[in-house]
This record gives sequence, C-alpha cells and structure tokens, in this order.
Amino acid sequence: MEVIPRVRYVAQRLLDSLDAAGARFSRRRRTLRVATRNSLCGRYRLGRLQGLADEVRRRDVPGDVVECGVYRGGSAAAIGERLLPGSSRRMWLFDVFTGMPPPGSQDPWEAWTDVGKFVSNEAIVRGTLEAAGVPVDLVRIVPGRFEDTLPDFEVPPLAFLHLDCDWYGPVKLCLQTFFEAVRPGGCIVFDDYGYWSGCRRAVDEFLAERSPGARLVRIDSTSHYVRKD
Ligand SMILES: C[S@@+](CC[C@H](N)C(=O)[O-])C[C@H]1O[C@@H](n2cnc3c(N)ncnc32)[C@H](O)[C@@H]1O
Repeated sequence: MEVIPRVRYVAQRLLDSLDAAGARFSRRRRTLRVATRNSLCGRYRLGRLQGLADEVRRRDVPGDVVECGVYRGGSAAAIGERLLPGSSRRMWLFDVFTGMPPPGSQDPWEAWTDVGKFVSNEAIVRGTLEAAGVPVDLVRIVPGRFEDTLPDFEVPPLAFLHLDCDWYGPVKLCLQTFFEAVRPGGCIVFDDYGYWSGCRRAVDEFLAERSPGARLVRIDSTSHYVRKD
C-alpha cells in the first residue's frame, strides 16, 4: 500500500473505533439514567455495577447472571445491558414483588420498618429492562419467596451474582444456592453488606466457612463484592 492510501486507511479505522467507543459510551449513559430512575441503589453504585459487569465481559467469564432482590429492575438493567447484548447468557431475576418480607431474629429491629415496602411486578421490571436496552428475551423473571423458588431451581454456571435482599435469612439462602456456581473470574456483589447487619453477618459467616481466602472489596459504604478465584 502506498503511503497516502495507508494513512487514509489507518485514519478511517481510528474514526470507526472512536465511533464505536462513542456509541458504547452513550448506550452506557442512557442505561444508567434509566437504571437510576428505577433503583434504590443510586447512580454511583449502579455505575460501579456496570464497571464490574464490563470487567466480567472483558475477562470472558462464561455463565449466566442472577439477581436476588429486583424491585423495579434498576440494578438488573445496569448489569444486564453490559452482559447480555450479543451474547447467549441468560439473566435470572428472583423477587417476591409483594413487598419486603419480615426480617428474622438475626436482623436488627429497624429492619421491621421496611416490611411491606418495595412492591413491584414483572411488567414494571420488563419496562425498565426494555428502556435500558436489555434483550428481554434472554431474561427470566421468577416471582415468589426465595424460600419457595430456590430449592427447585436448577442452577446454571454463573458469571455474575447480585444479592440485594437485605436480611440475614435470604442472603444466606441465596449464597448457599448460588455461590458455588459462580465461575472463576466471576463477580458476587453484596449490596447491603455495610448497611444491614444481618446481611453482613450472613456474608461473613458464609465466606469464613466456604471461602476463607475471599477478599471483600468495598464499592461504597454499603455495597461490597468478591471476585471468584
Ligand atoms: C432493596 S430491594 C432491591 C432493590 C433493587 N435491586 C434495585 O435496584 O432497586 C430488596 C428486594 O428484595 C426482595 N426480597 C427480600 N427478601 C425476599 C425473599 N425472602 N424472597 C423474595 N424476595 C425477597 C424484596 O421484595 C425487594 O424487592
């Protein structure tokens, strides 16, 4: 190739990749706007979830995505839009949708003030996901109490696990159900670790027993994650 055509070719490739990066960036921002309007997590934490999901994609970690504690689908949208388009991954979303169930004896008394809050439904979640650019045909919503829905669930290999269900009992049950299925390089996020003492206790007990080497990394004052070795 002569010099001028070669320079033109390289410049065009550069412009194409800038275009693609710009499109990816604006998709990410649009999703973040939709997710923030439909989540209790807040913009910063949702942006960090996007970043963790991007890393899982870059590392090519195989497996599906699970979220326990969905509400209107905001955090699911942030994660799903990064991991599902163009892939064959599925996303499994578990929630009772009829309001926060009562806490247990391992949770603090303030937990009772949230009982019955965060009512939502599958149509709201689908609306959030669609608006955020998540391919909804790859999403399965499983309504019901985890205590009823998880025991019969056939757990697939997982790349990303997001636990946002606040109380000791459900967090422990979700860890017992899903932790082993997360593949090396995959990510497990505990949204309430720094806020609800029952959640922190469930995570600490579980990791001490099942994965003593796991390193908890802080996202903000409440949310933390571990990466599977
Ligand atoms: C804090 S909200 C989730 C927030 C959501 N991730 C977001 O982006 O806004 C916690 C959710 O966990 C669900 N949940 C808590 N305990 C549950 C249980 N035992 N079974 C099913 N769902 C449960 C509640 O219904 C509620 O929607």
